[in-house]
Order: sequence, then C-alpha cells, then structure tokens
Amino acid sequence: MSIDISITRNENPNIDNYNQDEIVFGKNFTDHMFIADFDGEKWTDCRIVPTGELSVHPSNAMWHYGQSIFEGMKAYKNDKGEAFLFRPLENANRLNHSAERMCMPDIPNEVFMEGLHQLMSLDKEWIPNRPGSSLYIRPFMMAWDSFLGVRPSTTYRFMILCSPAGKYYAEPVRVKIEQEFSRAAPGGTGHAKAAGNYAGAMYPTRLAMEQGYQQIIWTDSKEHKYIEEAGTMNLMFMYKGKLTTSPVSDTILNGITRKSVLAIAKDWGIEVDERQVDVVELTEAIKNGDVTEAFGVGTAATIAQIKTIGLAGVDFDLPAITDDMFQVKINTYLEDLRKGKIEDKFDWTVEIK
Ligand SMILES: Cc1ncc(COP(=O)(O)O)c(C=O)c1O
Repeated sequence: MSIDISITRNENPNIDNYNQDEIVFGKNFTDHMFIADFDGEKWTDCRIVPTGELSVHPSNAMWHYGQSIFEGMKAYKNDKGEAFLFRPLENANRLNHSAERMCMPDIPNEVFMEGLHQLMSLDKEWIPNRPGSSLYIRPFMMAWDSFLGVRPSTTYRFMILCSPAGKYYAEPVRVKIEQEFSRAAPGGTGHAKAAGNYAGAMYPTRLAMEQGYQQIIWTDSKEHKYIEEAGTMNLMFMYKGKLTTSPVSDTILNGITRKSVLAIAKDWGIEVDERQVDVVELTEAIKNGDVTEAFGVGTAATIAQIKTIGLAGVDFDLPAITDDMFQVKINTYLEDLRKGKIEDKFDWTVEIK
C-alpha cells in the first residue's frame, strides 16, 4: 500500500526560537503534525500541516464517551546529528490492539509508519541531543462523529503530535502501593492505552501525592494483594539476583520498555522471573535485603529509580543507587542503543533519514 501524504509547511516556524535548555515537556510542540481521517470505510486525506488548533463540534463522541486511544514513543539524536526511532512498529501494533478493544478501526501500519517518517524528517531539527532528552511522539486516535448517542463512532481521526522532552523523573521517586482504588479489572480496558484509564487514575494519584508520594503502584482489583504496574510505567525488582516483574495480563499495559529490558537482561545472562509479586512479600524482602533494586520502566520515564515504597502508611526504603546496579547499567545501555551509539544487535532502532 503506498500512501500519499500532502504537506503544508508551517510559514511561521518556531524552530528558530527553540532553546533546548528551556524545554517544557507537553507544552512546546514541533512545527508540524500529521493527520489522517477515517471516513467510515477507509483512511483518507493523509496530511502534514502546521501544528495548530482543531475545529470540533461539541457533540463529538470522543468527549462524551471517551473513544480515544494513544501511544507514546520517542525519537533520539546523537552527537553526530543522526536521529533514530525506537521500535516504532511495536507502537503501531499496540495502537491497533487498543483500537480493537475500544471498537475503533485499525490504522494500517503503512499510514502510521509513513506519516511518522515524513513528519520526523520534516521536524528532525526539533529532536534534542542533550543527555536524557528526546522528542516525545504522541500518536493518537479519537472518535470523530458529531452525534450524542452511545454507540461506536463511524468516523475517526488519527494524529501525530510531537513535543521535546527532557528527563522525566530526574530524582528517584517515592511510590505508594494502592490498596483502595483500582486502575483495571479483569475483562476491562487496562491492557489498552485508552484515555479513560488515565482519567480514572488521577484521583487516587492525587491522594497519594498529598501523602508525599509521586506515583502509585497499582495492585490487582480483587484482593489488592499483587503488584501490577505504576501510573505510566511497568515495575521491576531485583529480587535475590533475579529480575522480577509481574506478567502482563488484561489489566497491565504490555510495555515496550519492559519487553526490551527483559530481552536485554536475558541476553546479559540475568535470570528473569515473570511472576505475581505479593505486596507483603515484597516489603518484607526490601526490609531483609533480598530486594536490592526497584524501578519503573517506560518510554516517558525510561528507567525511574524508586527510592521508597509505601504500604499502608509504612515506608520501605531501597538501597541507595550505585554504579554497579542493573538499573544504572540498563539505563546507559538503552540510551546508547536508542541513540545509535552502540551496535543494535536486536535490530530495534530505525534511522530517520
Ligand atoms: C499504564 C502504563 N504502563 C506502562 C507503560 C510503559 O509502556 P512503554 O514502555 O511502552 O512506554 C506506560 C507508558 O506508555 C503506561 O501508560
């Protein structure tokens, strides 16, 4: 399938005023965005236009019933000015996985990838090259019918928006194990990257923040006994020398960083243990020194060191970070891999020409 993409260049680009030292993630956007429309039968009118506002009727189904899904990925640049995407097809596939659950149409990989590549080559100058920085890419799809009845929309819009990003959690984080509220239940939408999952997480997260934590660790909705994942990251523990993480399920997002970290760990000869982790067992193991590391893994956060885990009002502190820790080594390795600084033996990086 060959894709025709019309391009309207931004006549008032912001690139000349772009200062990498003043990056505000999510507030500054690149000069162009990609749009494609689903007319009820097929994707049409693929176009790149200046980043700007949309005109939407107030009855738009996305606003009322939340038929809205998204992805999060990044482009990286190295000192030589070469730019790379990291496993973009995984994002395209996961978007379609989310689309199926939310009764939305598949977006052909060709539209996703061609739109992404052409947008990236147009806005390549926006990809920052400072350590830990990148261009965050937000592909998303939303219902587009102007109609107030509860039924799947017949029309949809797919877009790609980009915002430069510095480091996400610069400092090690304090996280709270949540045992009252739930993010996802079996049979629900937890495995999809659906907007409503994030809306439902905001109130419990705000309560946790008021208690002095930055993030929540979700537990299973039935017993609140087993670790699931954090707000925007999967979770990993170094437990008696084994890299331990919850198995993905229909209540956990199948993280691309998670998948990548597990593959690298196996390649390094580290034993990987995908199993349910009981919260009491975990905190006991932190106390007696069997858990030496806890960290979140995700595109936005990359590798986020966890310094404290709170359970039922009691804080459990992890050992201070040292250079020989797995999370430090994997962070460096991933950063080098994503920027094309080391050999890509997994064939995960895609160069932007
Ligand atoms: C709920 C949730 N879990 C995990 C992740 C990590 O996934 P990935 O590594 O693909 O970014 C994310 C981020 O997308 C997320 O929103």
